[in-house]
Amino acid sequence: MTNKLKYFIGNWKMFGNLNSLRIIDQIEAFCNKYRKYRQNYKVVLCVPSTLIYYFSNKIRSNFVSFGAQNCHKNNKFGSFTGSLTAGMLKNAGANYIILGHSENRLEGDTDKEIKQKIESAIKEKLNIIFCIGETTKEKRSGKTFKVLKKQINNSISKGNEMKKIIIAYEPRWSIGTGKIPKVNDLSKIFCFIKKELRKNFKTKKSNLVLYGGSLSGKNINMFSSISDVDGFLIGGSSQSSKKFIDIIKNYYK
Ligand code: PGA
Repeated sequence: MTNKLKYFIGNWKMFGNLNSLRIIDQIEAFCNKYRKYRQNYKVVLCVPSTLIYYFSNKIRSNFVSFGAQNCHKNNKFGSFTGSLTAGMLKNAGANYIILGHSENRLEGDTDKEIKQKIESAIKEKLNIIFCIGETTKEKRSGKTFKVLKKQINNSISKGNEMKKIIIAYEPRWSIGTGKIPKVNDLSKIFCFIKKELRKNFKTKKSNLVLYGGSLSGKNINMFSSISDVDGFLIGGSSQSSKKFIDIIKNYYK
């Protein structure tokens, strides 16, 4: 088990209301109590925009931070009904933001738009969780590395402040399906992503890279053997304090 800081990031998706504060309370209480590994991990909860302000005011925590799940590509107020700028989310209390999630890509987000969103979020000094990943079809036809390379290079600019960008490798075929990549494949993919980032963006240290897709308390332990994994983006299992806490506990078991 490595002592490197690991991220446990929850993606609540379209879930939660004001009563869900109790889930956060329980997670925060766990982080406070479970001292053994506390200095080794960080918890971020990316909740619906409607809850960021409320949660971040109610929970003043050294261990739990809040994030948003998407933003508009423009960073100025404008006539975009239903949309939010990165600055509005920051102003509500977000410190992190998920961008490029495959569910948003399916709804039409292109690499080019994601690039503009990343730039807006960087201007607002938000930490970005930039999601990349291949579909089943791309995996079957051996295109995984090509797809990841394209997603990285089309959406990150050379001038970006690289330390603000955390990559989340989330194969689309694994999200919400219960399917998990093999350890061997994951090790190769993580090594490839980190090499690609160092090579293209000339950073001494690679960006942090997380894994996401069908994580649970039952399968988290297999990731302990992959030292390149800097943490996890957790969807369904982050909507329950018990399931989320089990993931942290079982990772360190
Ligand atoms: P899942 O979702 O953990 O429910 O598969 C992950 C995600 O969409 O970020």
